[in-house]
Amino acid sequence: MDHSNYTVEPMISAKSIAARCETLAGEISDYFHDTDKLIVVGLLRGSFVFIADLARELSLPCEVDFLETSSYGNGTESSREVRILKDLRGEIEGRDVLVIEDIVDTGHTLHHVKRLLESRNPARLKVCALLDKPSRREVDISADWIGFEIPDEFVVGYGIDYAQRNRNLDHIGKVVFK
Ligand code: IMP
Ligand code: MG
Repeated sequence: MDHSNYTVEPMISAKSIAARCETLAGEISDYFHDTDKLIVVGLLRGSFVFIADLARELSLPCEVDFLETSSYGNGTESSREVRILKDLRGEIEGRDVLVIEDIVDTGHTLHHVKRLLESRNPARLKVCALLDKPSRREVDISADWIGFEIPDEFVVGYGIDYAQRNRNLDHIGKVVFK
């Protein structure tokens, strides 16, 4: 992968993300206020920074688990096929579950993950996505909480990669090809 043919332009600042995390965590904590234990499920790898920040703002008893699905490979085009690469460690039957996703793009990943987790009969299953690109949707699905709605741009940072790079940026930037 050639990483010299693009630059990254700032799109959402670290400060805006932090403020939004606090608001989202407040709303999620209110919604699940009566839970005995919330299972926060991060979709690897893109959600690892978001889940760390969001989970620390939740005022709920929590357990954290991870699920990994196959991704875009090294390009910017979505493959419609979604496979589970790493399943949850814990049982979710009868539990409250919050799925944390980095971006809802075509919607195929979320659709597949929700169907899989619903089949395990959780008590409540909700989704929080940091970013939403509604204009790219191919499946009629949406997250219950969304950090930011963005246009059809390829973005990186705050956990999100382009060919495994740029995950460690503290903000969200858009990839601009030279
Ligand atoms: P979907 O199945 O098309 O909704 O794709 C969801 C996944 O594609 C996200 O979890 C991301 O991992 C990846 N993805 C979608 N858009 C972008 C992007 O702009 N940058 C990096 N990854 C992306
Ligand atoms: Mg992802």
